[in-house]
Amino acid sequence: MTARVIAVEPFDLVVFGATGDLAVRKLIPALYHRFADGQIPGSARVIGASRRALTNEAFRDMARDALETHVPAGQRDATSVAAFVARLSYVAIDAQGETGWPELVAALGPQVNIRVFYLATGPDLFGPICEQLAAHGLASEARVVVEKPIGKSLESARAVNDAIGAAFPEERVYRIDHYLGKETVQNLMALRFANALFEPLWNSAHIDHVQITVAETLGVEGRAGYYDTAGALRDMVQNHILQLVCLVAMEPPTNLSADAVRDEKLKVLKSLVPLTDGSALEHSVRGQYRAGASAGGPVRGYLEELGNAASHTETFVALRADIANWRWAGVPFYLRTGKRLANRVSEIVVAFRPIPHSVFDASAGPIVANRLVIRLQPDEGVKLWLMIKDPGPGGMRLQHVPLDMSFATVFGVRNPDAYERLLMDVVRGNQTLFMRRDEVEAAWSWVGPILDAWTESREAPRQYTAGTWGPSAAIALIERDRRTWHEEE
Ligand code: BG6
Repeated sequence: MTARVIAVEPFDLVVFGATGDLAVRKLIPALYHRFADGQIPGSARVIGASRRALTNEAFRDMARDALETHVPAGQRDATSVAAFVARLSYVAIDAQGETGWPELVAALGPQVNIRVFYLATGPDLFGPICEQLAAHGLASEARVVVEKPIGKSLESARAVNDAIGAAFPEERVYRIDHYLGKETVQNLMALRFANALFEPLWNSAHIDHVQITVAETLGVEGRAGYYDTAGALRDMVQNHILQLVCLVAMEPPTNLSADAVRDEKLKVLKSLVPLTDGSALEHSVRGQYRAGASAGGPVRGYLEELGNAASHTETFVALRADIANWRWAGVPFYLRTGKRLANRVSEIVVAFRPIPHSVFDASAGPIVANRLVIRLQPDEGVKLWLMIKDPGPGGMRLQHVPLDMSFATVFGVRNPDAYERLLMDVVRGNQTLFMRRDEVEAAWSWVGPILDAWTESREAPRQYTAGTWGPSAAIALIERDRRTWHEEE
């Protein structure tokens, strides 16, 4: 099956931080894929900008290297790589000084194309860059794209949003949460709202609880400097995981327009029961990995990776969240994420309530409640766990088996990276998969008191051995409610 591709309008995209990790690993490969699929018109231009003095040719060489490293050989060819890099140019700019701005103005020329500024820089530069863009007359009509972290707290998020808002109105600000660009995450909306089957059951009368797991096997790698100032709650829960909670829990929006969807997500965030002081400590578990094993080899602990510093930063968090509204009252959402866990797996598990009465004899075996498992990565797909009769004679014996739809088997196409979809959405002017300012701030409002409770408790995070499923307290967190974390049988 081939994917349908509709070309976007011509655009000028300026990537600040063009020599950085995000640009090299994600943005340049994503743009290449869209270009090779014929979605980017010939007159589109991509201008890299950063402090480093580079010629256009040197930037193109860097982009070529990025494609060789980050796009599998079977997915690129020399002709389209050459044609793609020919669209690239470069301007050296000092974000906080005057150098390079006149050159950028000259390179862009009078505006004809859609104009997008992607700030693939640290958040401390968002304000200064936006200010300079406005001062040089580049902000009017243009769109700006920013990434997390948007602040470290509600207060600092407001300051970042104010600085962006001083130059760009909200309808031209695109705050990326790359989880919203993942195919399976969007599929959650298709599953819920394009099928008659689930929505009537999607409430506390039929759903017992929901689990969201985002488990990684990697450690903090080269990002310890940033990560130690953030931790798992800020790095993953405040954004990615709460966005997943919103998509699972929101009411059906009137349509898929940006504000219709974002209004519904915001209501979920505002309905989260606050976790403060005692309830925050009771409903959360923090962990930090110590040395262990991963991918068959020994790995160092978090503190060793940091250089044997003392740190209370959590690399794992598990939480019980509750949503106080008519649909979800009494349905806990168990959330967990961590680095150096046993497997790389991200999934949403919707656990239905048990049947009210069994007509089967004990010899049929236990009847396990239905579960809908949405696998975000790897092996993207959806499984609906059902009870069926074990085939063959010998009486009624029941088995718990999945109706299994693996996207790779059904569609057989390359699963596009989230950034491909999101970049093209910016060009199309579609904000549906981007976070609005009030969503980001509502998420901080919920997360802030948990962070405060941890700080006040002065307790160290619980240690867990790298390559395991986190501290045993995380298992206890769900088991004391007589439930268990989902494991594939
Ligand atoms: C990022 C976090 O936002 O998401 C990282 O900062 C994390 O710490 C990453 O590793 C996970 O993304 P993905 O797409 O690999 O699940």
